[in-house]
Amino acid sequence: MTITIQIPVKPLDNPLAAEVVGLDLNMDLDDQTIADLHKAWMAYPVLVVRGQQDLTMERHLEYSRRFGDLQRHTVKEILHPEFPEILVLSNRGRGGAQPINNGGAYWHSDITYEDVPPMGSILHGLITPPEGGDTLYADMTAAYDALDDATKAKLEGLKAIHTYRTRYEAMMNAGVRPVKTEEELSQWTEVIHPIARTHPETGKKAIFVNEGFTSRVEGMSDNESRDLLEHLFEHSTQDQFVYRHKWQQGDVVMWDNRCTMHRATDYDLSQERSMHRTTVRGTRPV
Ligand code: OGA
Ligand code: MN
Repeated sequence: MTITIQIPVKPLDNPLAAEVVGLDLNMDLDDQTIADLHKAWMAYPVLVVRGQQDLTMERHLEYSRRFGDLQRHTVKEILHPEFPEILVLSNRGRGGAQPINNGGAYWHSDITYEDVPPMGSILHGLITPPEGGDTLYADMTAAYDALDDATKAKLEGLKAIHTYRTRYEAMMNAGVRPVKTEEELSQWTEVIHPIARTHPETGKKAIFVNEGFTSRVEGMSDNESRDLLEHLFEHSTQDQFVYRHKWQQGDVVMWDNRCTMHRATDYDLSQERSMHRTTVRGTRPV
C-alpha cells in the first residue's frame, strides 16, 4: 500500500534546517509525497525526520533511492558487509564493519574528492550517546551571499583542488583507518571543482571548498591559496550560518552536499554511537 500525506515542515533554529513531522519512512511513500519531500529538501538543505527507530536497512536504502542512484564509499572496510551501499559510522563496528571513532570530525562536504561528488547523504542515528556527538551543518549558500562584492568577484572562475589522499594518510598514520598500500592510496587522485558552485536545482551560488578535502586553489601561490581557503573556511563556519543537530535515537537527517558542510563533534567514546549513511549520486559541479 502506498500512502499520501501532506507533509508539515517545522523550521528549526537556523533557516538552513527544518523538521518534517509525521512521517514513517518504513511506509511505501507515493510519488507525490516524495516530490513534496524533495521540494522541502531543496528549501531546507538539512531536513530532519525524527522517530525512525524501526527503520530497517532495506527501507533506508529504498527510501534513499527515491532521490537518485546510490554510491558506495571507496573505503570498503566501513561498508555494511551485507548492504554495501550503507556506510557504517559506528565506534563499535556494528554489523561487522570496521569501528570508527572520529568519522568526519572536521568541516567537510561528503566525497568532494571525486569528479562527481554526491548530491546528498541520508544518515540514520541508530544508537546515539546521551550527550555530545552532535553534528554541525554550515549553510554555504548564506555564507556565499554574505561575502563582500570584491571577494565574490575574485572567486568568479576560480577553481580548487580536492583530494582524499592527504586526509586518509593522516588518519591512517594516526591508527584510526585501515593501512593501505601505495597502490591503494594512489586511487585518490586530485580533482578540480569551482570554488563558487551554482546549485543545479535552485540556481543559487554556494561556496564549495572544505577543510576536509580541499588542498589548494588552482593557479595561486601556496601562501595566497592558504590565506584564501582559511578565510573562506572561517567565514563559512560562523555561528549565524551553523545549525547544530542534537541527535535523538531514530533520527534521520538528510543533507544537500552541494550547498552545506558538516562536521562531527566530540563525545564520550565509552558510549556507543552508531549511524548508517546512504549517499545519493550527484552531478559534476559547475
Ligand atoms: C557523515 C558524517 C558526522 C557525524 O555521516 O558523513 O560526516 O556527526 N557524519 O557523524
Ligand atoms: Mn560526512
